[in-house]
Amino acid sequence: MIFPLSSFAEDETGIVLITGSNRGIGLEFTKQYLERGWTVIATARKPEKAEDLRQLGIQYPERLSIHQLDVTDNERIDALAKELVDQPIDLLLNNAGISGYIPDQIFGRLDYDSFEQVLAVNTVAPLKMAEAFYPHIKSSNLKKIVSVSSSEGSIGGAYDDESGRMYFYRSSKSALNMVMVNLAFQLKSRGIAVGLVNPGPTDTDFMRGIPFPLRSTEEAVTDMIENIEDIDIDNTAAYLNYNGKTIDW
Ligand SMILES: NC(=O)c1ccc[n+]([C@@H]2O[C@H](COP(=O)([O-])OP(=O)(O)OC[C@H]3O[C@@H](n4cnc5c(N)ncnc54)[C@H](OP(=O)(O)O)[C@@H]3O)[C@@H](O)[C@H]2O)c1
Repeated sequence: MIFPLSSFAEDETGIVLITGSNRGIGLEFTKQYLERGWTVIATARKPEKAEDLRQLGIQYPERLSIHQLDVTDNERIDALAKELVDQPIDLLLNNAGISGYIPDQIFGRLDYDSFEQVLAVNTVAPLKMAEAFYPHIKSSNLKKIVSVSSSEGSIGGAYDDESGRMYFYRSSKSALNMVMVNLAFQLKSRGIAVGLVNPGPTDTDFMRGIPFPLRSTEEAVTDMIENIEDIDIDNTAAYLNYNGKTIDW
């Protein structure tokens, strides 16, 4: 199915492609964009097991399509881009991410295969997605690429806490930031805005067992959608915290 061009100028809706839509923050993005009248191209590694997403599909059959996608599978990314050829995408939302197993990230016991996996999902895949879906984004009204980063990717933040932890996750998000800043300046003259958003500590499987207060996915995603609306060509390369403030690189 090809969704028609969005009518963003009139009613502030559009077409968004979201990675990792089956649970956590990605599922909540899917839900909230649908509630706001957007059309959502949801992707998940195992759509057949994505029960919550499929329920949303029943609720919004006209505006939600669900596609299989492992973001580390470049051939599958290219195949999906081909399946969706001529489909404008206003917003590419690179949400899928992994932290890596924490005990693998302890100096002296580092697991380098695990490091590669974290980089593949968090850093390489968002760039590959942007490259594969560039024609779709370019032909849309809004023309935005946004990646869910983390304040854990802030090198300034590492200076503040001086802890030396989560080597793979933190460096994958720092590298994601640099990838997206490059992309922002490369695509600026082509009218495509690129940005990074941070949900803050949010209550998902990702943070299971973390002993400090977590924000709800509803709250985190409502804040990020507001931040995403604020990203445009004039502030391309923005790195925005959930409260709308710029994060120190
Ligand atoms: N939660 C937080 O406190 C927090 C804070 C800062 C930033 N973030 C970022 O927010 C994003 C979403 O995190 P979350 O909290 O929602 O985590 P989550 O609940 O663990 O969900 C992660 C999502 O990413 C998907 N995913 C993982 N590897 C994938 C792959 N190879 N291909 C496609 N999808 C894949 C998962 O799919 P499966 O179900 O198939 O595994 C799942 O849908 C991540 O980028 C994360 O770094 C989260």
